[in-house]
Amino acid sequence: MNNTDKNSSNPYLNIKLPEGYNLIFFSEIDSTNTYIKENASTLQEGTVVVANHQIKGRGRLGRSFYSPSDTGLYFSILLKPHINVSEALNITVAAAVAVSKAIETSTGEKALIKWVNDIYMNGRKVSGILTEASMSGQNNTLNHIVLGIGINLSIPEGGFPEDIKDKAGAISDNSDLTFKTYLLENALEEFNKIYMNYSDKSFIEEYRTRSCVIGKTVTVLQGDITYSAEVLDISSDCSLKVLLSDGTIKYLSSGEISLQGDFS
Ligand code: BTN
Repeated sequence: MNNTDKNSSNPYLNIKLPEGYNLIFFSEIDSTNTYIKENASTLQEGTVVVANHQIKGRGRLGRSFYSPSDTGLYFSILLKPHINVSEALNITVAAAVAVSKAIETSTGEKALIKWVNDIYMNGRKVSGILTEASMSGQNNTLNHIVLGIGINLSIPEGGFPEDIKDKAGAISDNSDLTFKTYLLENALEEFNKIYMNYSDKSFIEEYRTRSCVIGKTVTVLQGDITYSAEVLDISSDCSLKVLLSDGTIKYLSSGEISLQGDFS
């Protein structure tokens, strides 16, 4: 896949970036996550790759992420943190807090987090996060993390595709460049604030208060197994504490689990 127009007429030239960050723009790309993954060794930490349109936008669990031109914000950040592999799992949690706060600042409306990394407004998914870590095979240490974020700004002309139309939503009806730039600035600033103080873990409490699943009955999809559970809490390691119908309490870690339910 040829990625086109790198930095050509970059519309984000005047964006305010946190210190140490730099931005690469593509009008069209296969996937901003894939681009960073393929170039991670030559890119600096804090490189943000933004695309106006992704041809092969990728989501969690091997799914695709619908990324049409103009109506969404699609970006990935390269991180090279000095943390251990288990702490890296919480980068997604930090990003979910940052994105929900940035959406609220930009729209003035509440954005909630569906464990573990979807952002919901008015019962519809408006944003998804895909975190991909690269480890060194030898001693299982972390080489880098690619943090990819997609936000639906407005509903695409003709609506969302059939397979997501009942679930997907948008944060506003505005997808002009000024709004997009403001949202991206806010998201990077919020994420960087958390990332700079990552070890204090205060973002986990914030994550809990922004959760839209606590107290809800959800369907847990784990491989071929499906069961119903009531969400009791999110624990300090961000696992989901659930109560099953037979009275068993279980702690679910993100891995291969999806949830279904009413997240309004
Ligand atoms: C999900 O909802 O399953 C996660 C979606 C993540 C989408 C973003 S858009 C920018 C970055 N590039 C990708 O290919 N995916 C992420």
